[in-house]
Amino acid sequence: MAPATFAYRYQSVLVPVIFEPWARELIHRADPREGEHILDLACGTGVVSRQVAKHRANLGSLTGVDHSSEMLEVARILAEEADLDARWIEADAGALPFDDDCFTLAFCQQALQFFPDKPAALSELRRVLKPGGRVAACVQKELEINPMLKAQASALDAHVGRSAGDAVRAICGLPDGDEIRRLFEDAGFQDVEVEATTLILHHPDAKAFAEGAMGGMHTGDKLSGMAAGAIERAVDAFLVGLGDCLDGPAMHAPHVSNVITARA
Ligand SMILES: C[S@@+](CC[C@H](N)C(=O)[O-])C[C@H]1O[C@@H](n2cnc3c(N)ncnc32)[C@H](O)[C@@H]1O
Repeated sequence: MAPATFAYRYQSVLVPVIFEPWARELIHRADPREGEHILDLACGTGVVSRQVAKHRANLGSLTGVDHSSEMLEVARILAEEADLDARWIEADAGALPFDDDCFTLAFCQQALQFFPDKPAALSELRRVLKPGGRVAACVQKELEINPMLKAQASALDAHVGRSAGDAVRAICGLPDGDEIRRLFEDAGFQDVEVEATTLILHHPDAKAFAEGAMGGMHTGDKLSGMAAGAIERAVDAFLVGLGDCLDGPAMHAPHVSNVITARA
């Protein structure tokens, strides 16, 4: 795999540290069963699907959807390498290309905050789930209580520009659990539970992670156009901002999200 695109950097740098632990958390809560038809909505590079397949053999089907062809390309390659039987479909969350009632369990990990029309996306999600089908989702909470993202946003603001920091702030753009609950209930979901949940994310080498994460965001292009010294200063600012999350060379950062479970 040529590590050229944002999707490859996302997969190699961010997925092992951030998205794999969250996938395990959602799977633990949803406990997929044999024969289930599973939708991984806004699947990115497919981490949730791969973890589901590790957790439970003999699934009925596994379908990942994302609007980014680059993310899906990485998902497809990794699935082939793992001999994973899944389909990867390019579509917008607001217009899913599936019949009604075709999935029994859906995941939507760290993506709802980015959907431009959240009611339309949740209504689509409910439509494609069988009655009684489950959903497990998570959405990042406020920047202020997420020190890793806060450090990153500050470093980008100061050393790259406000628009680069805005890309990180967008990750925390739907922090309010009550608003999320209303969105799910208005879309017709039942038994909606929203729970603020903290995972501690680890990396043995915070500097290596900082270098990768600063280049692994949607800000990567802006960073790569900067002089080496300027990039180093931005990375150093990220490390300084991590403060108490540093333990020698290692990083242990609390990461807080709302975890949502509901039934169609
Ligand atoms: C932070 S990533 C999370 C990806 C994956 N769920 C994971 O845990 O690694 C957000 C994903 O949402 C996708 N996305 C954002 N808006 C979307 C939309 N309207 N329809 C489909 N996918 C969307 C992006 O392309 C990206 O892959």
